[in-house]
Amino acid sequence: MIRRLKHILTRVFLHRIAAADRKEFARRGLDLRGLAPSHWDLSINDAGHLEAQGCDLVSLAREYGAPLYVVDGERLARNYRAFYDAFADHYPKVVIGTSYKTNPLPQVISALHECGACAEVISHFELWLALRLGVPGPSIIVNGPGKTREGVELAVSNQAKIINIDGLHEIEWIADLAKQYGHRQRVGVRVVTSVGWSAQFGLGIDNGDALKAFQQLCQHEQLEPCGIHVHLGTGIRDIEIYLTAIKEVLEFARVLKRDLDIDIRYFDFGGGFGVPTVREFSGVDMMMRNNDMPVRPLDTEACPNISEYGKAISRLMSQYYSLTDPDAPTLIFEPGRAITSSAQILLLEVLATKAGANNVTNIIANGGKNIAMPTGYEYHELFVASKMSAPRSGRCSVFGPLCHPGDILFKLKELPAVNAGDILAIMDAGAYFVPNQMNFSNPRPSAVMLQGGKAELIRERESFEDIISLDQLQTEASQGDSAVVNQ
Ligand SMILES: Cc1ncc(COP(=O)(O)O)c(C=O)c1O
Repeated sequence: MIRRLKHILTRVFLHRIAAADRKEFARRGLDLRGLAPSHWDLSINDAGHLEAQGCDLVSLAREYGAPLYVVDGERLARNYRAFYDAFADHYPKVVIGTSYKTNPLPQVISALHECGACAEVISHFELWLALRLGVPGPSIIVNGPGKTREGVELAVSNQAKIINIDGLHEIEWIADLAKQYGHRQRVGVRVVTSVGWSAQFGLGIDNGDALKAFQQLCQHEQLEPCGIHVHLGTGIRDIEIYLTAIKEVLEFARVLKRDLDIDIRYFDFGGGFGVPTVREFSGVDMMMRNNDMPVRPLDTEACPNISEYGKAISRLMSQYYSLTDPDAPTLIFEPGRAITSSAQILLLEVLATKAGANNVTNIIANGGKNIAMPTGYEYHELFVASKMSAPRSGRCSVFGPLCHPGDILFKLKELPAVNAGDILAIMDAGAYFVPNQMNFSNPRPSAVMLQGGKAELIRERESFEDIISLDQLQTEASQGDSAVVNQ
């Protein structure tokens, strides 16, 4: 009885929210059912297909095979430039380190290095990859709560730009290695502020742990403590959170100067900047999904423009430092999502459709949570790339091929009538799609990059042989002896 009442009240609450969203979107002349392709500079050709840089995405899916990642190399470079300019227009010394973990496709990373980005790495592998891609050590920022001694050795031996420690245990390692390699190593401390991620990350300003770390760093001649690092989260759509954290960091830097005579020369304010075309699902969105209702629509205007961050953060810096002083500290940012998210699309092919309950069409695509994990916790736009001129005709849910009840990508999205063979385009597949992918019963997809209206293959599709290439298989001869075949 109580459960039933709770259920009814929940549905009344959710319907009220949905009605308020409908009213608000109608008032602002916005389409509740989804965003227009123009948000990504995409167009629609005479065949009714979605195009990027004038390339027909349906033809690309047919030529290279879906699932396929399509990286818009020109948009990637534009996003980088916009991010850099947003800060460099207002602040004299700005360094951007591209977050390897957000999009580890080597060609994407290299394209950003060509734009001028340093590397921001959080693991031994990522550090190795940066060096493998030709990035010099002094252009690599080394972060991460789970550094290994081997990884730290690679960083120190290559004279990394800065190593931001996450825990006190790292101090002795870095000091020993710096002594061994005979140079002073620049180090920073990842701090925890009153806002943003904490738990396994960093050392608290409030509880004195960060100060303790700097005191210990000062005891080692081989170490040059000169940086403070903070990274607050991801997909953040609120300038105030940054300003709160940065103010606490700047006050802490004053304490370091006063008590330990440390000059902070690098303020690394991390990544985390949200984008207008993606939103993390709220508790209400999750309730809607669980109650068979579409999630709330995406309001692109609720996300501040990156230039607003640039202005606000520089203004705050100017209250602590003279921006015309040649010794003003350097600002480092480590954006991932803000640059890569909107520059990559994931194309899937529809394998089958089924009529579901309440007139919903269930679409089964050839990629699911194995390659599109973020659709389970974030709003991403979805287009039927092969039917862009057809009117939306009903509600559809999109599933993957994994034979698992959790393999659902989209619930109750209004789409045109879809058939087997149609191509779906999941937008903003450039952040946390590739690093979260796995070969759950399927190979991982290939990727192409578009430049000047032409596609170039940048990653081959994994073959079945690739998937088992590291396994110790029986040789053919021994297989013959021991194979048991059920007949
Ligand atoms: C230390 C660090 N820097 C940068 C990033 C990039 O974050 P985002 O992709 O949200 O900009 C992350 C991601 O969580 C991170 O952990």
